[in-house]
Amino acid sequence: MTVSIRPLHPVFVGEVSGVDCHDALSTQQVDAVEAGMNEFAVLVFRDQHLSDDEQIAFTCHFGELENYNTPGHVRKRENQRLGPGIADFSNLDKHGNIMSGDDRVWFFKLGDRLWHSDSSFRPIPAKYSLLSARILPSWGANTEFADMRAAYDALDERMKAEIEDLICEHSLIYSREAIGFTDLTPEETAAFRPVRQPLIRTHPSTGRRSLFLSSHAGTIAGWTIPEARMFLRDLTEHATQREFVYSHPWRPGDLLIWDNRATMHRARRFDRTEIRDVRRTTLTGEAAMASR
Ligand SMILES: [Fe+2]
Repeated sequence: MTVSIRPLHPVFVGEVSGVDCHDALSTQQVDAVEAGMNEFAVLVFRDQHLSDDEQIAFTCHFGELENYNTPGHVRKRENQRLGPGIADFSNLDKHGNIMSGDDRVWFFKLGDRLWHSDSSFRPIPAKYSLLSARILPSWGANTEFADMRAAYDALDERMKAEIEDLICEHSLIYSREAIGFTDLTPEETAAFRPVRQPLIRTHPSTGRRSLFLSSHAGTIAGWTIPEARMFLRDLTEHATQREFVYSHPWRPGDLLIWDNRATMHRARRFDRTEIRDVRRTTLTGEAAMASR
């Protein structure tokens, strides 16, 4: 089958046809998807009802899985519903019941409704994330994406020069603090030690520059925290203007891939008394501090 991609948005996001994600892909298909990712940054595959093992196998065509045993994963192994290699982004507990509204895991999940780039709080942030829809609630729960390449390009030259060498510190502590969730254990506080990331990153395949923003970014090296927070908030507002944003209304069987090195995303609200079962595989990227 020939791989083809139909744009879903004026600046990024494409819908792929000609790929069955259950199958082992040919080199040509892998190359076509990678090329599509380099151009569109977010790709939508329809009607892919995958098992966890099939999603993991498909993901591994494009790189190396992120290691979920590293610190920073909130659900301890014994409390997880799914096997290794795939992350549970549902609102279900390990028994398959809807988690309570005061569950700490739910508090962490709520922070995903802030704009972010996956694993920007890790020294090696994520390359691609792949999210599959298994069970969807009756309304809401869109995932929104913002193109950080277009956002960078749209900055004026003075601003580009001002941010050229800025370094931010990212941590889950900052993004959870932003929604008033500060009740972290000493182990979590130690595991979420801030990491340094450049504010501008260069894509290793395309050479395109983008803003490396994320709600995990809480300080700028050498700045006061209030000045840094306001500056990052202003930049995030710029970067998430509607012209740079695509909102994805999920259908069962959708599989989305996004490039965390070129985009931010956020989850949207839904009725948490309904089941939302979505599952994510993640590919590890490269150290952004070295990619400039
Ligand atoms: Fe995310």
